[in-house]
Parts: sequence; C-alpha cells; structure tokens
Amino acid sequence: MKGLVVTEYGEPDVLQWEDVPEPEPAAGELLIRVRAFAINWADLLQRAGRYPGGPEAPFVSGHDLVGEGVGRGPGTDGPPDGTRVFGFLGRNGAAAELATAPAKWFYPVPEGLSDEEAAGLAAPYLTADAAIVDLGRLQAGEAVLVHAAAGGYGSAAVQLARYYGAGTIIATAGSDDKLERVRSWGADVLVNYRTHDFVPAALEATDGRGVDLILESVGGDVLGASFDCIAPLGRLISVGASAGSSSKRFRLHTLFEKGILVGGFTLGLWAQHHPELIEPIGERLMEALESGQLQPAVGGVFTRDQSVEAHRFLGDRRSVGRTVVVM
Ligand SMILES: NC(=O)c1ccc[n+]([C@@H]2O[C@H](COP(=O)([O-])OP(=O)(O)OC[C@H]3O[C@@H](n4cnc5c(N)ncnc54)[C@H](OP(=O)(O)O)[C@@H]3O)[C@@H](O)[C@H]2O)c1
Repeated sequence: MKGLVVTEYGEPDVLQWEDVPEPEPAAGELLIRVRAFAINWADLLQRAGRYPGGPEAPFVSGHDLVGEGVGRGPGTDGPPDGTRVFGFLGRNGAAAELATAPAKWFYPVPEGLSDEEAAGLAAPYLTADAAIVDLGRLQAGEAVLVHAAAGGYGSAAVQLARYYGAGTIIATAGSDDKLERVRSWGADVLVNYRTHDFVPAALEATDGRGVDLILESVGGDVLGASFDCIAPLGRLISVGASAGSSSKRFRLHTLFEKGILVGGFTLGLWAQHHPELIEPIGERLMEALESGQLQPAVGGVFTRDQSVEAHRFLGDRRSVGRTVVVM
C-alpha cells in the first residue's frame, strides 16, 4: 500500500507517497481503509523535526482520519466492518491507504457529515472539549477568549464554548475575512490581532473584569499578554504554541495574585498515560454532534497528489477550519 512518508525532516516537499508495509491490527485495534485524513499543525511540526518527542524520519504522516473498518485485531469490539468511522490514532500513520487504530477512539460518523467534515473532527474537538470541560471547568455565562479562533482547534473551541453555555465569547484571528467565519460559529467580539490589541478589547467586553476562561494555542506574545486580561479566579488552558515560542512575560506571582489556574492539555499524552479519560470526552462529543449544534469547518480540500500543497496551505495560515486530503 501507499503511505505519505516524511522522507527526511524539512519543508513540505520532503513528503512522498511511497510503498510502505500494510499495518496489522493488534488486539483492540481496527484496520481502516482511509477515505480522507486531516492535516494538523502537529503534522507540520513533525515533518519539520520540531515536535518534542516526535517520530524519527522516515515515517508515515497523519493523526486523524475518516474511513471504513475492513478488519480488526483479536477480541476487538467497536463498530462492525463497513461502518464509516472517524477518530484519531494517538500516533502518526493516518496518511495512508490503510491504517490501524485503537477501536475505542473511533466513532461512527453521524448522519449528514461528509468525509471532508469528519476527517478532521477528532483531534480538535476532543482537545477543545477537554480544555473547556475537564480543565477549564466552564460555568454557564462565563466569558471565554479563544485565540487563533479560525483554525482547526480554534473553530472547535468557539463552537464548543457556545454549546456549553459560555457568556460572551471573544475571538482573535489574523484577518477580517477569517473573523467573519468565526462570527458564524457563535463568537460575539472579534479581534484581528494583526491590527488591534486584544487585551483592551477583552477588558471592554467584560466591563473591566477580565475573561474567565482563555483557550490558548499560539504561545509567544499572545500567551504573555493573555495574563493581562484574565479575570480573578480565571483559567488559562494551553494546548500548543503555533508561533513556535513560549512567553517570557509569565510571572509566577500572577497565579496567586489573581487566583488563576494555568493548565496544559495534549491529547496524545492523555491517550498514552490515561486512555480511560478520553472515553467520556468522546461520548460528550458524539452527543454534541448529534445535537446538530456543531458546524465542522473545512478550510481546504486537497487530493492525495496535492498533499505537499495541503501542508503549505496550512503552514501559510490560509486555512479556516480544517485542512483535509481526500484519498
Ligand atoms: N494539545 C493537543 O492535543 C492539540 C490538539 C490539536 C491542536 N493542538 C494545537 O493547537 C494549535 C492549532 O492547531 P491546528 O492544527 O488547529 O492549526 P490551525 O489553528 O488551523 O493553524 C494554526 C493557526 O495559528 C495561528 N497563528 C497565530 N500566530 C501564528 C504564528 N506566529 N505562526 C503560525 N500560526 C500562527 C494562525 O491563524 P491566524 O492567521 O488567524 O493567526 C494559523 O492559521 C497548534 O498549536 C496545535 O499544536 C494541540
């Protein structure tokens, strides 16, 4: 079979479709014929060799996908063969004709969702759900700030914050066009952070009190400045650093001076160390999808021959929602 191989660390053109061994499903795993896979920011970092603890090149890229079950390892439950399923692998290997994946992290695709919409659902929505509910402990009516709100993770975060009853949702993104889409997902206050400072906007939107829950994935100055607009007893949950750097402005004293909680979440780490914690998140996600209140956004659809272009598209910050490659 063919797989999209990161032949060596580097720019998108190190990606090549090559013959790779067919995977064998172990106990607890499904064998899935891949219909489409998503490209995550993490896939770009792994390709570039900049993902902490990432795989050694060469390796097959990709983390989440939609496909059909075509087999299973011994003693494996889960949806019957032939069911269209979406989910995440908990490791790389989704960008291939066939993939093996833990059955417990694969869910039947709800009726009405296309392959393109389902391919990239798992990682961003499960991550956003964990950040909002498990770590962020959002209470109904609380103000939420979502950074990079037009991206894969950001779009899921805005939609799930609205679904879970947030009050004012403040959202940042890098262009006015992106922000128009973010408004349609339920954000109330939109800030183009290339042209406007989000701190006064967030303070004004909360009558000077600050934001109760900040969903952060950019890092650098965005992370640092976020502490200037967090409410007393607020929570800041970090899931990534798309800008590639941490903040130099973080002061330990801020934690107790404002009584705030700062937390981090990585889906792969929970999957590795406490897989049982993912199951209730998956159940909540299926319920939210079945409510019809989520609108999985697809920013770009590419064929498998355009996989290099798909990596460039996401890396150039052009995607609104998820970037997807259809097999
Ligand atoms: N921890 C987890 O388990 C987990 C799971 C999913 C995602 N994540 C993290 O969440 C983040 C988003 O992932 P994603 O796949 O959904 O990607 P994405 O948000 O679709 O793309 C990244 C976006 O970040 C914004 N950005 C802001 N400053 C940037 C900078 N200096 N350089 C590049 N981009 C910048 C850009 O949007 P603007 O142009 O609008 O600024 C860009 O489009 C990543 O950091 C990823 O690692 C973590």
